[in-house]
Amino acid sequence: MNQLELIRALPKAELHVHIEGTFEPELMFAIAQRNNIAIPYQSVEEVKEAYNFHNLQSFLDIYYAGANVLVHEQDFYDLAWAYFEKCAEDQVVHTEMFFDPQTHTDRGIAFATVINGLQRACDDAQSKLGISSRLIMCFLRHLSEEAAFVTLEQALPYKEQIIAVGLDSSEVGHPPAKFARVFAKAREYGFLVVAHAGEEGPPEYIWEALDLLKVNRIDHGVRSEEDQALMQRLIQDEMPLTVCPLSNLKLCVVQDMRQHNIRRLLQQGVKVTVNSDDPSYFGGYMNDNFIAITEALDLNADELKQLAINSFEASFLPAAQKQAWIEKIQAL
Ligand code: HPA
Ligand code: ZN
Repeated sequence: MNQLELIRALPKAELHVHIEGTFEPELMFAIAQRNNIAIPYQSVEEVKEAYNFHNLQSFLDIYYAGANVLVHEQDFYDLAWAYFEKCAEDQVVHTEMFFDPQTHTDRGIAFATVINGLQRACDDAQSKLGISSRLIMCFLRHLSEEAAFVTLEQALPYKEQIIAVGLDSSEVGHPPAKFARVFAKAREYGFLVVAHAGEEGPPEYIWEALDLLKVNRIDHGVRSEEDQALMQRLIQDEMPLTVCPLSNLKLCVVQDMRQHNIRRLLQQGVKVTVNSDDPSYFGGYMNDNFIAITEALDLNADELKQLAINSFEASFLPAAQKQAWIEKIQAL
């Protein structure tokens, strides 16, 4: 089996994907039309031309605009179902998806509309495609602590459907410390916790996510390499990093895929995983990310298997299910 065949064959878990970031232009047009909502593009080609981001904020502005066409429960279902079909193609057998309730509730969409649509797609993915999934609710860090507390309370009736809370949106200027009390409350309620840190923000933000938010995983975290003490901490704690290579390239976190540090992090013993982040916007889904790093960094079969194993070890699946997938990978 060559590398490409191995990438396709490996069972994989995706741990860092924003469901609103899987919104393909074709589906966006279809939903905009049926909901009678104007979008500032004439064609799918025009949408794709608008996707020339140079940093996180220029991406987020367009990403939030796209999400505005989502109104009905069926819209959220269709969005998630389209992503699950991509998972099936890429042998992603388990996924832990972020959703941003505030992007929708701030437009007057009920929390229930969002979560019921997503959950129905998750149920169908299990029964029709054999794909397991969990939902992670993210707080938008550019909004206030108070708004995050309101969202946390709104989530409580759906506690069984939400495995963890996370933190996303504009990183610089909105350190994890801003949400220390919300995360403490979320942990008290029994949610697992993750946070974006060290994508554009400095290593200090990763320290804060570890020490103040007490996260179970760091999302991105690629800037940890700038701080040797932090690297030691991550290795010692076996703290997973959900790395998103094509996202990092598109948002100029790295200038060239050959400069990406995922292989160095892996070789130093950091529990790194491969993920797609916002695949519709960043140029590819799970396997595209694997292929991009394999071509740029010449990853070998053992490294590819280790990345897939890491994705299950770092997941929130029960231990027995993790072990079953890991054994399948080792047998390849
Ligand atoms: N970073 C921060 N916030 C986000 C991202 C991201 O890559 N994608 C969607 N929201
Ligand atoms: Zn992200």
